[in-house]
Amino acid sequence: MMAVRAETSRSLAGKAALVTGAARRLGRAAALALGAAGVHIVIHDHQTLHGDCEHVCEELGKLGVNSWIVTADFEDPSDYATLIERSLGVSGRLDILINNASIFVPDTIQDAGFTSAVRHLQINAWAPLVISRDFSRLAKSGKIINVLDSRVSGYDWRHFSYILSKLALRLVTEMTAIEFAPDISVNAVAPGLILPPPGKDIGYLEGLAKTVPLNRHGGTRDITDAMLFLLQSDFITGQIIYADGGRHLMEYDDGPHTDR
Ligand SMILES: NC(=O)c1ccc[n+]([C@@H]2O[C@H](COP(=O)([O-])OP(=O)(O)OC[C@H]3O[C@@H](n4cnc5c(N)ncnc54)[C@H](OP(=O)(O)O)[C@@H]3O)[C@@H](O)[C@H]2O)c1
Repeated sequence: MMAVRAETSRSLAGKAALVTGAARRLGRAAALALGAAGVHIVIHDHQTLHGDCEHVCEELGKLGVNSWIVTADFEDPSDYATLIERSLGVSGRLDILINNASIFVPDTIQDAGFTSAVRHLQINAWAPLVISRDFSRLAKSGKIINVLDSRVSGYDWRHFSYILSKLALRLVTEMTAIEFAPDISVNAVAPGLILPPPGKDIGYLEGLAKTVPLNRHGGTRDITDAMLFLLQSDFITGQIIYADGGRHLMEYDDGPHTDR
């Protein structure tokens, strides 16, 4: 008879997670959604500015979980090389890693420079790889979620260095899913239109709704629900959930020769 694994509890309560870039926007939403599920949170921020981390701590306190703040600049290898060790130092345990922090600077194939490409690769893919490796070595078991972008299914002509780095993170997701198995699962969530980029308002996303099969933009809840689903599964690894209303299925990007 085939061996079947015993049913395990899907509750996340009492676990501890490191969420990178957790002070604002999507990272903050992820920290609060995990907190609402009873997960204690190590809030990573680039720098602690404007009291944002403290506000997240206060919100997490109201949810009845513990939280701690750690900083690391993902452009400084010596800084992120100690992030897991420092996180474990404050929380005492780590079961979950959410690699969310990233940069998103426009450039094209024609004007992308080496510095910008390497900067994106370091912050968006290399630092998450190093942090994931340290998580596997020091936490020994648990779950990792990498935050991609639904554009990894195609091209992004206006953010070449960014999409290059997110495609690298997709490869990291798939290879570490094999490398860290069976003790650690590694999955990804690929958001579509969720929050307007800096300098744009919600009208920008509404204007793009026609490019989405479900005819609307999403909200942070769409992303955090996908994360919670992956964190509660014990038999999924190496997967990407596109939380984008189906936008990854469309030819939504005009390409470089549209005006010719
Ligand atoms: N927003 C969307 O609709 C959308 C769509 C597709 C994919 N995504 C993905 O979802 C994730 C979150 O998106 P978001 O829009 O919430 O992100 P965001 O606001 O652009 O930035 C996320 C975090 O990354 C941190 N960060 C930037 N540079 C860093 C560095 N050198 N070292 C350490 N941390 C650094 C930022 O901290 P500072 O501000 O202090 O620098 C910020 O807290 C990203 O991975 C993004 O690619 C988002």
